Amino acid sequence: MCGIVAYLGKKTAQPILIEGLKRLEYRGYDSAGLAMLSGGIIKIKKTKGRINDLEKILDKPIESETIGIGHTRWATHGEPNSVNAHPHLDYTGKIVVVHNGIIENYSTLKTWLQSEGAKFVSDTDTEVISNLIGYFYATGNGAAGQNKFEWAVQRALKEIHGTYGLAILCSDFPDTLIGAKNGSPLILGVGDSEYLLASDAAAIVEHTTQAIYPANNEVVVITAAGFHTKTLDNVTVTETIKKIEFSLEQIELGSFPHHMLKEIFEQPKSLSTCMGGRIDIQNNRIKLGGIASYLRELTRTRRIIFTACGTAFHAGLVGEFLFEHLARIPTETEYASEFRYRNPILEDGTVVIAISQSGETADTLAAVEQAKERGATVLGIVNVVGSSIARTTDAGIYLHAGPEIGVASTKAFTAQVAVLSMLAIELGRRRHISSFHATECMKELAKIPDKISRILQQSDHIKQIAAANIDRNNWLFLGRGFNYPVALEGALKLKEISYIHAEGLPAAEMKHGPIALIVDGMPAVFIATEGPQYDKIMGNIAEVKARGGKIIVVATEGDNNIKKYADHLITVPDAPEIFQPMLTVIPLQLMAYHAAVLRGHDVDKPRNLAKSVTVE
Ligand code: AGP
Ligand code: GLU
Repeated sequence: MCGIVAYLGKKTAQPILIEGLKRLEYRGYDSAGLAMLSGGIIKIKKTKGRINDLEKILDKPIESETIGIGHTRWATHGEPNSVNAHPHLDYTGKIVVVHNGIIENYSTLKTWLQSEGAKFVSDTDTEVISNLIGYFYATGNGAAGQNKFEWAVQRALKEIHGTYGLAILCSDFPDTLIGAKNGSPLILGVGDSEYLLASDAAAIVEHTTQAIYPANNEVVVITAAGFHTKTLDNVTVTETIKKIEFSLEQIELGSFPHHMLKEIFEQPKSLSTCMGGRIDIQNNRIKLGGIASYLRELTRTRRIIFTACGTAFHAGLVGEFLFEHLARIPTETEYASEFRYRNPILEDGTVVIAISQSGETADTLAAVEQAKERGATVLGIVNVVGSSIARTTDAGIYLHAGPEIGVASTKAFTAQVAVLSMLAIELGRRRHISSFHATECMKELAKIPDKISRILQQSDHIKQIAAANIDRNNWLFLGRGFNYPVALEGALKLKEISYIHAEGLPAAEMKHGPIALIVDGMPAVFIATEGPQYDKIMGNIAEVKARGGKIIVVATEGDNNIKKYADHLITVPDAPEIFQPMLTVIPLQLMAYHAAVLRGHDVDKPRNLAKSVTVE
């Protein structure tokens, strides 16, 4: 996610903010900006692009400007441009904010604020925060004996549903900086008569290693005289100053050695953020605002085509099975590179859905343009806000998975499958499945992040399995039904970062040729979780075992039958077959990661590969 840095002290703030933002670049961003406050004047500079693009538009630092806030944005609402970049000023011109997170009820609040006369200039959810604080500051009565700026911040945040890490300034209080947190990271570095707010300690440690960590629903008010922390109900909180233990390079990856491992372990959180505010069990609804105006057409559509590349294609295959199972809509998944040259037949009533993490994959973008040319409605499921595919499709759903930096796609895959699952439930509910069935599906889907957390605890065990087999240069990955696309994804992960050749197959296909490949000790990874084809896949395991294959199994927790067949066993919590791919892929991501590290490869930048294939 984005980066926040704010400074209040005796030094000139601007260079400190710029240096701090550079320390947070690893978090991934698309825009950057600063606001300085001096003599009651707020000065804002912001731009789409990198921090050095921001530096080109900055004025020379002014020594007397010793308070300011900075931001690197990872867009979730409103495409990356200089208007949507942070900081955001409120309509009265007195309040300025930088924000990390997602405001789920921003649309409702924006409509109400506009009815109260507030003006908006951006498409972001964040502007609701600055305008809400500005509204209460301008119209509220405040509270006896309390700084009105502090009161307005508390009052506004009580209306906010969603996640935020905030740094806030008010032109009427040129000696005050306020931070606030709920669900997004925020740390306060406590120096010698100087303070820094930041998204993580990477931006703080070169100034001080003393810090406090505000809890959710707390605001911290900072002046040169010191700081205090309060709840939104104005109850004072006693904070303990802690020592920042990390070294700088460690912090930039957290405690992880590679972005890929960090992103694998982020999946409980990225999935929760992806599904947050969208699964409405109480009202038996899935809310996907980005395609709301296309839901009726989707409900009546006669055919859906997913088009994508690589991992996104595998997610599309899972989506195909989900849509046909839950919504009973004829669905197919096409490689974008094939679709665009195949003179595809797109009869009336066909909807094309492009899936892409980066939103910049050349073949997928070309497939989108081709489908539009042929008159089809084209939607997108994309992670990067404002990317080319997001802007070219008629409408779409953002993953909200946060930046994916590792070349091997992991959290984007599970988020893509989660979005496809939500859409399949919603279309199924609109077409024929009962409300009860739809609600049961929503409840099961909402449990997935916690189940992933349990699987991640087996990382060391999976590392040992990888270590026992990395000397083999040919692996097989085999699955059936909803786990067949996961077998393809597991093979791709292993290939692209460990350079071991691997093939993913529907397990039953073994007998149609590939079984000739089996030699003594050849690793065969089976996804053999509870499901309608369990007995069949047990037969496939026996066939490979009988020919000397090394059997590595991903099975359901508590399956005691499988133990006598498996040379290595990894278990996942039970879940309906239709939602198992988000679970069974986790061991395969970890297997590939550990194999690559054990083979000494650059996991985050594997040879010959780019994070986004923007050329054909
Ligand atoms: C997956 O790990 C690879 N990085 C690659 O196959 C990727 O999924 C493919 O290039 C599609 O990228 P996109 O999702 O950004 O369009
Ligand atoms: N949701 C806000 C936006 O889209 C903040 C995103 C972030 O955390 O960078 O501008």
